[in-house]
Amino acid sequence: MTTDLACTPLPAITVDLLLGIVTTRAIRRYKDEDIPEEDLRAMLFAASRGSSGSNRQPTRFLVLRRTEAAGEARRLLGLAARTVWERKSVNEGYGTGSGAVPSSRKWRMAQTMQMFAENIDRSPVIVFACLAGVQAPDLHHGASVYPAVQNLLLAARSLGYGGVLTTFHREVQDDLVRALNLPQDVTICATVPIGRPMGNHGPVRRMPLSATVHENVWGAHPSWAVEPPPVRAAGARSAEFTGE
Ligand SMILES: Cc1cc2nc3c(=O)[nH]c(=O)nc-3n(C[C@H](O)[C@H](O)[C@H](O)COP(=O)(O)O)c2cc1C
Repeated sequence: MTTDLACTPLPAITVDLLLGIVTTRAIRRYKDEDIPEEDLRAMLFAASRGSSGSNRQPTRFLVLRRTEAAGEARRLLGLAARTVWERKSVNEGYGTGSGAVPSSRKWRMAQTMQMFAENIDRSPVIVFACLAGVQAPDLHHGASVYPAVQNLLLAARSLGYGGVLTTFHREVQDDLVRALNLPQDVTICATVPIGRPMGNHGPVRRMPLSATVHENVWGAHPSWAVEPPPVRAAGARSAEFTGE
């Protein structure tokens, strides 16, 4: 029996908004589980609620599921990811220095990226966030698409999924245009694989607030811009928000 999604409200039990924001990590390893259409709809609906300049809403989403019709685009993305990662791992010395020390942060990142590049084409879902209706976009046009991408990642997080914003499409842009039948005025801005995480979400590592917030004039760091106690997010869909 198929669910009538037009009569089905969005899921009610999700992660607390603030907890979700501060614990939405880039997730690059997914369980081999398809995403039910109800959850997919919720994520894309949240994404489509992102803001845009003058509310022009130029964002379109091209969703690849694990179907034959998506095969060529998935193959191209796999090729792109492997090419980009091979180049990056050499250029940034992922196999040397601390990158060669098992269990170091750099080594672990390299393992994750290698696995990601090898498996991205099998991600449960891949979403292309596209800018539509602009022939020769410049940087500022992207600002009307990326809020939707962040909403997509947050909605995924809230439902127990994870994803990551990638730009691998740039490596195989022309081939993707053909495989996806993209009109001339449509540009892919982000490629976002999504799935049930193999690991966990958790607090993201960022510069301290004191180093990033200024008050009134550049260089004046306000006394209130201090780190809160650490948060811990146990598992996906967890609503736990605890200090450690
Ligand atoms: C503009 C942009 C481009 C990105 N491109 C890629 C990419 O091509 N491949 C990838 O694996 N991650 C990509 N990322 C994800 C970042 O590497 C990731 O968010 C960052 O390292 C911080 O990790 P965290 O989100 O887990 O804290 C991109 C993120 C942004 C915002």
